[in-house]
Amino acid sequence: MSARSSTSVASPNIALAKYWGKRGVPGNVPATPSVSITLSGLTTRTSVTFDDDLEHDVFVLGGNETKGTPLERVTKLLDELRAHAETRARARVVSDNDFPTASGLASSASGFAALARAATKALGLSLDDVALSRVARRASASAARSIFGGFVGLGTEDDAAAMPLASSSHWELRVVVAAVTTSAKPISSTTAMERTRTSSPYYEAWVADAPELAREVREAVLARDLERLGVAAEASALRMHACALAAGPGIVYWTGRTLELIETVRSLRKEGIAAYFTIDAGPHVKVLCDARDAETVELKLRPLAVRTIITRPGEGARTMDEPS
Ligand code: PMV
Repeated sequence: MSARSSTSVASPNIALAKYWGKRGVPGNVPATPSVSITLSGLTTRTSVTFDDDLEHDVFVLGGNETKGTPLERVTKLLDELRAHAETRARARVVSDNDFPTASGLASSASGFAALARAATKALGLSLDDVALSRVARRASASAARSIFGGFVGLGTEDDAAAMPLASSSHWELRVVVAAVTTSAKPISSTTAMERTRTSSPYYEAWVADAPELAREVREAVLARDLERLGVAAEASALRMHACALAAGPGIVYWTGRTLELIETVRSLRKEGIAAYFTIDAGPHVKVLCDARDAETVELKLRPLAVRTIITRPGEGARTMDEPS
């Protein structure tokens, strides 16, 4: 093995057209197509060191050694790459986010994208980005999209990998992130999706409707049409949450603050500012707007949030020794 150690960084992505639910085939394949923006300004940094003296993988997240499901998911991804590299060496994985973990700010997307990139490099494997995206998808479907920068699509085919739609310089869009808590979300997206699939009476309607919205989002991105994008992105988020709310027991990711932020975005629109929200598996609200309106939007959201961050389309997962 030539390289034994590597460090990568990756950024979360925000889905404009949401994936929610998995197809009943092996390998964590989404039931709905999605379109996302990889964001600059939020970063996961992950180092992977393969060491023949280790008896099992070690996963240190945010300074704490982690066991249980998070470690199992890391080991599963590493097992796939170990099989490619024909090695049994265990690894020490050290990962840090500069934003709240597991709270709906897509830390699993950036986390597994950075892990896949760093582990591949450390093992000396040469996988292209599409193959790497497929590896990341099996760990976390949204992570498949964070391999790429800019605007990215992910389909629902058996061997789905994300595909770049447009680069980060395609559009001077801003996403103002309004984080309403630093705590972890009450239910993981994997558990919530499965409960939605098996118990929400709206699940079939969601899956049937989502491809049309994803198409609309894709076209709006390519046309740089903010109003068209915003209307479709809000519809995708609201339909995803409506479907989850209707599960048994209902999945409620929102807090009072989430609703106040939605109201604020709608009142900004009444004042003539083109601002549109999206919400993932957590209470935080992310607002799409033009670069010229970002500071006005951020100032309006700030009193309702524990933290606001103005982000823009950013780069895909990269090892630290590659030009970014
Ligand atoms: O891939 P996961 O388990 O992080 O789930 C992502 C689900 C959403 O963020 C709500 C939607 C999406 O497409 O990213």
